Amino acid sequence: MTATIINGNAVAAEIRNDCRERVKRIVARGATPPGLAVILVGSDPASEIYVRNKIRACRDVGIRSVEVRFPPDVNQRSVIERIGVLNDDPSIHGILVQLPLPPSFDIAKILHAISVEKDVDGFHLYNVGGLVAGGTVFPPCTPFGVVKLLEHERIPIEGKNVVVVGASNIVGKPMALMLMQHEATVSICHAKTRDLAQFTILADILIVAAGKPKLILPQMVRTGAVVIDVGINRLKDGTLVGDVDFDGVAAKASYITPVPGGVGPMTVSMLLYNTIGSCERRHQVTKPASTSDTNTLVAAK
Ligand code: GUN
Repeated sequence: MTATIINGNAVAAEIRNDCRERVKRIVARGATPPGLAVILVGSDPASEIYVRNKIRACRDVGIRSVEVRFPPDVNQRSVIERIGVLNDDPSIHGILVQLPLPPSFDIAKILHAISVEKDVDGFHLYNVGGLVAGGTVFPPCTPFGVVKLLEHERIPIEGKNVVVVGASNIVGKPMALMLMQHEATVSICHAKTRDLAQFTILADILIVAAGKPKLILPQMVRTGAVVIDVGINRLKDGTLVGDVDFDGVAAKASYITPVPGGVGPMTVSMLLYNTIGSCERRHQVTKPASTSDTNTLVAAK
C-alpha cells in the first residue's frame, strides 16, 4: 500500500479563501473588521517565525492584527494589564499569547487573564471545560486543523480506534477530547508509556505530536492506518521533519500528512477561522426575550 499524501497547504488555502469571503461580508455590512492581538514575550526564534506567519496570514485575509511585544524580563503584571486593555478594546476579537513564555511566568495566570470571548487559541480553562462538556466556543487551532483535514479527506472518525501520541495541553489532550466528541475510541500515549508500539499498532488513525524525529517506525503502524504527523523538528542540517519516519510509514499507511505542508499550515488557518468566528458573534445580538423566537440571531453593528 502507498499512502495518499494529505496536502495541508491546499486545504489550509481553501479555508483561508473562505475566511477572506467572511471578512468581506462583515466589512460590506459596515461592521468593524476582525482584529487579532498577538502577544510575544522575548525573542524565541521559533516563536518569532510563528508570530510573523500569523500576522502575515491575518493580512492575507483582511484581519487587522496588532503585534504586542515585551522584553523577556518584563514583569508578568504588565502583560496581564495589557491583556486587560485588549479585553476591553471592541476592535479586538481575538487575543493570543505566543507560547512558550519565559520560565518565570505563570502560564495559567496569563492565559486565564484573556477574556473567554476572545480566547481564539482555546487555552482558557472555560474553553477547555467546554471541550470536555462538548460545547467549546474556540477549539484549539492545531487539533481543530487535524479534524478539518480528516473531514476534508472524508476519513470517518466515528467508532475508529484513534491513538494520540503526546499529551500536551496544546495538542494531545484537546485532540483526544475532540475525537471523543466525534465518537472515536481514543487512547493517549505519552513519554512514560511503556511499549508504545503495542498501542500504535492498533490505531485506525494515529496522531503523533511528541516532538521526536522518527519516533514512529513502519513496524509500529497497522497496514492501511491514517497517520497524522503534528511534529515539527529541525535537524542539525536544518531540514524540517515530523515525528514519523515518513518514507517507511507512507509505504504502509492509507493516508499520511507530510512535514512541512501537512498540519502546520492548518494551525494558522484555524486561528483565522476562530478570530473571524469571534468577530461574527460580536456583531450578532439576540432578540429580546419577549419575542417568540428568542434564539434567532439578528445582525447588528
Ligand atoms: N506555541 C506553539 N503552538 C502554539 C499555539 O497554537 N498557540 C500559541 N499561542 N502558542 C503556541
